[in-house]
Amino acid sequence: MKIGFVDERSAVERRVAFVPETIKRLNERGFSLFMQAGAGEGAYFSDSHYTEVGVQVLPTATAVVENVDVLLRLRMPSLEEIEAYPSGKVLIGILQVWRHQKELAALAAKGWTVFALEKLPRITRAQSMDVLSSMAALAGYKAVLLAAAHFGRVFPMLTTAAGTLTPARVLVIGAGVAGLQAIATARRLGAQVEGYDIRPAAKEQVESLGAKFLPLTLDASGEGAGGYARELSPEEQAKQREALTTYVTRADIIITTAAVPERPAPKLITAEMRRGMKPGSVIVDLAAETGGNCEETRPGETQVLDGVTIIAPVNLPATVPLHASQMLSRNFMEFLGLFRRKDGTLTLHTEDELLKATCILWAGQPLSQTA
Ligand SMILES: NC(=O)c1ccc[n+]([C@@H]2O[C@H](COP(=O)([O-])OP(=O)(O)OC[C@H]3O[C@@H](n4cnc5c(N)ncnc54)[C@H](O)[C@@H]3O)[C@@H](O)[C@H]2O)c1
Repeated sequence: MKIGFVDERSAVERRVAFVPETIKRLNERGFSLFMQAGAGEGAYFSDSHYTEVGVQVLPTATAVVENVDVLLRLRMPSLEEIEAYPSGKVLIGILQVWRHQKELAALAAKGWTVFALEKLPRITRAQSMDVLSSMAALAGYKAVLLAAAHFGRVFPMLTTAAGTLTPARVLVIGAGVAGLQAIATARRLGAQVEGYDIRPAAKEQVESLGAKFLPLTLDASGEGAGGYARELSPEEQAKQREALTTYVTRADIIITTAAVPERPAPKLITAEMRRGMKPGSVIVDLAAETGGNCEETRPGETQVLDGVTIIAPVNLPATVPLHASQMLSRNFMEFLGLFRRKDGTLTLHTEDELLKATCILWAGQPLSQTA
């Protein structure tokens, strides 16, 4: 099976779909690789690193797509890119199809088969291919470093000859993959950390990292389908914001990561709540790309409002491109392994439950209509 990947570098992208180390293993498993020149440079891999492991380097993205069966992408191609692609190929990637319906329609019109990896269920078997968890863990870590870099104080308690410095108070809202990694990182830096989530199951995980779980309860459980959070009603959200206000105003650093699958981010910090925070406090809103957990978030921008810094990064994993690419590469390799049948042949199919869950289009048609 011929697999291609292209140069997706931009102002906010430095990752690459495959690193040379994984390619050796893909070759052993019967895949041959084609790439666009320069694709790995953002992650410090030159074309020669790839040619050494047998990758064919081609000058343009279109040339790559023409030569392969399957295109792996970090994000949904643009309408212009899709226009330039030939018909009837396979696209696998982190595509956020719920936000890219026009692009999906363009792929359907060209008879493409599409697998969206954000649709992978978070079950044990899918863990090794869970691209969202890989990237969220890096984002959670990096969010805390970003907050520390913008904070006018240190994180740990320091007892020095010049006096004792008090530790920073960090609040992490949303204790999923990114949130738990943010809690662990803030703890390692010596902060006093509080965590909060609407899923009751998160309490134990937050506490196991040495943080305090906020004692806020909703009238009904915040847990929805598949162990994910459910979207709260407007009344529940208003109640939640009211209950959170005290904790928000006393925090020095807030990392927000609250997310409900395929929904805009819940608004948890209003302008009024932010106005109650001390000057010098920092908010890092990891949910920026899906609208933000803070009412005032501007995706991709850093603002200082009444002395409170609001940082809204849109692609933090790309700021650690080497490790991010290593993790993605491993995740993509494991996903491609699903196409190997019991007799050892490699064919496109959707018989596996994970392939079925992620297949959005099969030869241009929604999978349900091709059954
Ligand atoms: N900016 C970046 O660079 C970057 C990178 C990766 C992930 N992200 C974003 O970070 C966010 C978290 O990702 P994740 O993989 O950890 O998701 P996740 O699903 O593992 O965690 C989200 C958590 O939010 C909780 N939650 C939902 N609604 C809530 C509410 N109203 N109040 C409190 N908690 C609530 C959920 O219960 C869940 O534990 C997502 O928005 C994701 O898109 C951003």
